[in-house]
Amino acid sequence: MEKVKIAILGFGNVGTGVWKILLENKKEIMKRSNYDIEVAKILVKDINKERDIALPREVLTDNIDDIINDESIKIVVELIGGRGEAKEYMIRAMKAKKHIVTANKLVIANWGKELFRIAKEENALFYYEASVAGGIPIIREINESLTANRIQQITGIINGTTNYVLSKMTIDGSGFNEALKEAQEKGYAEADPTSDIDGYDAVYKLAIMASLAYGTEVDHDCIYREGIRNISDIDIQYAKQFGYTIKLLAIAKEENNKLELRVHPTFIPSSHPMANVNDAFNAILIKGNAVGELMLYGKGAGALPTGSAVVGDIISILRNNVAPTEVKAANAKVDFKEVKKSNDNESEFYIRLDFKDKAGVLGDTAEIFGKNNVSIVSITQDVAHKTHSTLAFITHKSSEKNINNSLKKIVELESVNKVESIIRIESFN
Ligand code: NDP
Ligand code: HSE
Repeated sequence: MEKVKIAILGFGNVGTGVWKILLENKKEIMKRSNYDIEVAKILVKDINKERDIALPREVLTDNIDDIINDESIKIVVELIGGRGEAKEYMIRAMKAKKHIVTANKLVIANWGKELFRIAKEENALFYYEASVAGGIPIIREINESLTANRIQQITGIINGTTNYVLSKMTIDGSGFNEALKEAQEKGYAEADPTSDIDGYDAVYKLAIMASLAYGTEVDHDCIYREGIRNISDIDIQYAKQFGYTIKLLAIAKEENNKLELRVHPTFIPSSHPMANVNDAFNAILIKGNAVGELMLYGKGAGALPTGSAVVGDIISILRNNVAPTEVKAANAKVDFKEVKKSNDNESEFYIRLDFKDKAGVLGDTAEIFGKNNVSIVSITQDVAHKTHSTLAFITHKSSEKNINNSLKKIVELESVNKVESIIRIESFN
């Protein structure tokens, strides 16, 4: 069988996962790709680092030129993460006539357009299945299986780290920091977990999916973003009391040729299947005008699930030599469908206020909501302390503008100390 040489850039969580799969499933991979894949080089930062997997000395390198200048290497698998070097190495590899597989959503969401242009110019194939939702084959699903549809909505739990943290806080009562540490130890988090916790990682993935689903450029800076840093155990308890579970959702909807794109913590009904997507699992619910509702569920992070998508891409390159659809992700706003301003979006809301327990506060807040066309579905009061208490509201569907106008007035009330939380509700109606 013909041999093909590849190089892996990065031997961390995903890089080692790819290595293990190539070894463990060698026979099947040979049969399916018609090639005997040899990992000729692996690029790392620290060549002297102790590693769990012993590698032949000649395979490891800390010099990218060893890969770029080796004409026998046909595919470069980028798994170092981050922006500058990852992007530069992929461009250099394509210019050296190598195909690319990457899991790097940050680079694709920022420079996808440029990378795909270079891939075309250089006749390089550029595959990126693992960049969204780890082991779930969502890119192929949108690019191939669902192309007959007009996609009406994509709703996803697409960050494993935040889902792990929220699940641990909800189910086991773990603290935020403890749960995040566990997610890092399990290899789910980015090198800088701020990207997970503050919602950037989910924003990049949503930009990629929306670009493919709506055939347009998506500037990720236009996506409304809120992370999970401020979710407290009090909100989790209230969510349970009202029959909801808190998840970090990424939502893309098209209405009247405008895109609504947002990533934020969300109350979802505890009876909905998405509420039971726990740990590092991801799920993506797609509504198409022909297929109806479709839900994909699987591991969104981790060495082997992500490695599964990466190795699948390597095999695709060896089998088909067909380029996947381009992501039109870029910061240039050419051919750009308008993204709705977040103030124009509508949702039901959960709002929690901290107030001084004085007569009249309920009437005053209800009056302000009423004047701003916000109608209340339910209110719960919890007298937690002697001097102040909590009021939690669930609203009917309201525009963000009306909610914000109400809250501006409500915080001016002498009896209100603080708006503690505002969390959107997705009822999946
Ligand atoms: P890790 O931090 O675990 O590993 C990074 C690897 O890259 C390490 O081996 C490191 O070397 C090497 N590296 C980093 N910078 C450089 C550099 N400048 N030059 C040479 N080598 C470098 O990352 P992950 O494996 O977790 O993630 C890799 C990519 O996959 C990222 O883009 C991430 O977003 C994406 N991804 C990750 C998933 C996951 O579950 N972890 C899931 C889906 C996508 P050394 O070992 O010497 O430190
Ligand atoms: N840090 C990412 C996550 C890895 O937690 O989902 C998968 O892209």
